[in-house]
Amino acid sequence: MTADPYGDERLVGLYDGDNPPGDDHAYFLSLAAGARKVVDFGCGTGLLTRAFVAPGRVVVGVDPSATMLGYARRQPGAEEVTWVDGDASAIEATGDADLVVSSGNTMMHISDDDLPWVLDNLAAALRPGGVISFESRNPAARAWEQWSPEASYYERNTPVGHLREWLEVTEVDNGRVVFDAHNVFVDGTNAVYTTVLYFRTTDEIRAALRTAGFENIEVYAGWHQEPLTDEARLLVFRATKS
Ligand SMILES: C[S@@+](CC[C@H](N)C(=O)[O-])C[C@H]1O[C@@H](n2cnc3c(N)ncnc32)[C@H](O)[C@@H]1O
Repeated sequence: MTADPYGDERLVGLYDGDNPPGDDHAYFLSLAAGARKVVDFGCGTGLLTRAFVAPGRVVVGVDPSATMLGYARRQPGAEEVTWVDGDASAIEATGDADLVVSSGNTMMHISDDDLPWVLDNLAAALRPGGVISFESRNPAARAWEQWSPEASYYERNTPVGHLREWLEVTEVDNGRVVFDAHNVFVDGTNAVYTTVLYFRTTDEIRAALRTAGFENIEVYAGWHQEPLTDEARLLVFRATKS
């Protein structure tokens, strides 16, 4: 098993500042109107998860990264959320959730072999008519081509000191992209974290959703129901459990 790419306490502490609430959060929160139970799959630091908290609503955040979930558990209001350590196998098949979301491209961390059972488990958490929604990067936009040391190099001052950062893609194979994130701290140490992402086409994700028992599958090119184009960078999926 590879090391957790979200396993560095210093970088996890910077995550919410680097990924503040935006149109994505507003979109996911709008889906929760009237929901009595929401599951946030791959919830990370829990910034969005905690925003789902509302009177009478059960909110569950699931993530396999002990570092991310540990951070989430220490945040104000964290006690209102049920945090679950683990991957989709840790999600109970309660069949009563109104909404399952997976933000921050978490679904791209799921391998092609794992995607069927992961979607099955997410479906099993939902009630019939319950909604699943998540985003995924469009392989046609080839985002990984920007992840070179030259294109991605950045220096900044952070609460954990001066940081030099860059990305370097090491493998691209049929939608499976492996890259190293380099983080050089002020003491000169370079913390390198390897991530594997799976870029899938609209058709591949539609088919996987259908096989897992989802219907009314909608795909947009952004958070405001932008129509899909071949060049879209982002694919936003929404479907209901049959
Ligand atoms: C980019 S972060 C997104 C976190 C959060 N959803 C957000 O929007 O900020 C990706 C998250 O996916 C989680 N992750 C990685 N592999 C996973 C898996 N197999 N199942 C569930 N979550 C996973 C990571 O631990 C990490 O917290």
